[in-house]
Amino acid sequence: MKTTMLAVAGLTIMAGCAATTQLTENERQTRAEAMLKAGFSKGNKAMAERVVQQDETQALCSKYPESVPEAIASRIQESQQATIRYPASGNLMGDWRQGEKIAQDGWGMRFTDMGSPNRPMGGNCYACHQLAPDELSYGTLGPSLYQFGKARGYTDEVRRYVYGKVYNAKATNACSNMPRFGHNGILTEQQIKDVVALLMDPASPVNR
Ligand code: HEC
Repeated sequence: MKTTMLAVAGLTIMAGCAATTQLTENERQTRAEAMLKAGFSKGNKAMAERVVQQDETQALCSKYPESVPEAIASRIQESQQATIRYPASGNLMGDWRQGEKIAQDGWGMRFTDMGSPNRPMGGNCYACHQLAPDELSYGTLGPSLYQFGKARGYTDEVRRYVYGKVYNAKATNACSNMPRFGHNGILTEQQIKDVVALLMDPASPVNR
C-alpha cells in the first residue's frame, strides 16, 4: 500500500516537472514578470516599474551576467556618473545618528510596503554591509564598511566618493548590485548626507 502511494506521488511529481519544462524561455520570463508585478502592485509604484522594466544600464548588465565587456562598462559608468547631483551647498556631511537609522531601515523597497508618501524610505545598508560593530546582524553581499573613514582618510575626496557611490553605485562599478539610491529617488539629498556622515564622521560608531 505504502509503496503504491509513493509510486503515485512519484508519478505526480514527475508529471509536475514535465509540465514546467514545456514552458518556453519567453513564457517563463513573462510569467515571472507578471508575478513580480502583481507582488509589488500595492507598494511603491516606481519600485514595481523598475522590477519589470529594466533601464538601458540594467538591460546591458543582464545581457552580460558574467562580466560586461570593458568598452560597455566604461560607457555605462560615464552615463551614470553624469546623473550624480551633489548638494549645491558643497556640504556633503549630515548627521551620523540619522545615518545609522537610515542604514538600519529597509522600508520602501519591499513588496510588503504599501507605499505611504509620508514615510521616508530607508537605505537598508546593513542588508549588504557590516557597519557599526553594535549591529551583529548584517549581510555580506557588499564589503565591510567598518572603520571606513578611518581607513580611507577623512578627506573631501573620500566624502565625495561616498556621496557619489550612494547616489549612483554604477558610476564607479558598471554592474554593481548596490541600489542607486539618489538616481532612483530612494533617498533624499539630506538622507544621503546622513549616511555619508555615518561612514565619514570620526565620531560615528563606524570609525570608533
Ligand atoms: C543590495 C546590496 C547593497 C545595499 C542595500 C547597499 N550596498 Fe553598498 N555595496 C554593495 C556592493 C555589492 C558593493 C561593491 C560593489 C561596488 O563597488 O559597487 C557596495 C559598495 C559600497 C561602497 C564602496 C566601498 C568601497 O570599498 O569603496 C560604499 C561606500 C557603500 N557600498 C555604501 C553603502 C551604503 C551607505 C548603503 C546604504 C545607504 C549601501 N551601501 C547599501 C551592495 C549594497
